[in-house]
Amino acid sequence: MDLGLKDRVAIVTGSARGIGAETARFLAAEGMAVVITDLDGEACAATARDIEARGGRAIGVACDVRREEPVRQMVAAGHEAFGRIDVLVNNAGLVKDRTLLKMDESDWDLVMDVTLKGAFHCARAVLPHMHARGWGRIVNISSRALFGNPGQSNYSTAKAGIIGFTRALSLEQARKGVTVNAIAPGFIETEYIKSLPNFDTILENVKAKNQVPFAGQPGDIAGAVAFMASEHARYITGTTLFVTGGRYG
Ligand SMILES: NC(=O)c1ccc[n+]([C@@H]2O[C@H](COP(=O)([O-])OP(=O)(O)OC[C@H]3O[C@@H](n4cnc5c(N)ncnc54)[C@H](O)[C@@H]3O)[C@@H](O)[C@H]2O)c1
Repeated sequence: MDLGLKDRVAIVTGSARGIGAETARFLAAEGMAVVITDLDGEACAATARDIEARGGRAIGVACDVRREEPVRQMVAAGHEAFGRIDVLVNNAGLVKDRTLLKMDESDWDLVMDVTLKGAFHCARAVLPHMHARGWGRIVNISSRALFGNPGQSNYSTAKAGIIGFTRALSLEQARKGVTVNAIAPGFIETEYIKSLPNFDTILENVKAKNQVPFAGQPGDIAGAVAFMASEHARYITGTTLFVTGGRYG
């Protein structure tokens, strides 16, 4: 299936590793030029080199999505390198898990700022480029945790918040050629998660709770993002696609 993404340009935040890196590789394999952006510049460059080694086009740009000016500079660097910005994937995220009474204000603020303020800054920086061509796709990465997980009041709140952001922005952008959707992953077996000491226990728990009796892989999210970014999704906006193996609570 031709996704119609060839020669378009995507920015994927938090893409030095994990789901973001796999999404960037997937989009590059579809013929897109990709901006790899994350906190660590050398890690961004390494992922970009990996994509180039597979015949794709990519640049790495270090950027903390919590801060407006670096985000503007990162988007400008992508535009300078590739001449357009068509797709933004707001993927940067992190957990700072604690039950509420043990949670520091800084743990709350960090998770909110990366997830929500990061999406705010990145969307504001890319939208003028999308409006200039009358076409754009914003895909926000939420989580099944939006339904609530113990120890994750900050993360669950942020991942539910990004759905509200998706809905509101989709209404603002629908007549400007820009769709805005969210993907809510369930448990995804990234390299980092596989390195956790209690990985086997986590995996057994996931297999027991999922309807589909296995864990998701980063490519499962990358494929869903690519679909939402494609021409085939032109009539879809403001929605959330759950890629969770059938688990909703
Ligand atoms: N892995 C899962 O099971 C799972 C499930 C549901 C949702 N998600 C979401 O998917 C996304 C990717 O998760 P992952 O598992 O690949 O995690 P990951 O930790 O491997 O990747 C997240 C990336 O975001 C980057 N990041 C963090 N703070 C940043 C900042 N301020 N500015 C720029 N980049 C920043 C990190 O450096 C990291 O490279 C996250 O939004 C996460 O919440 C993951």
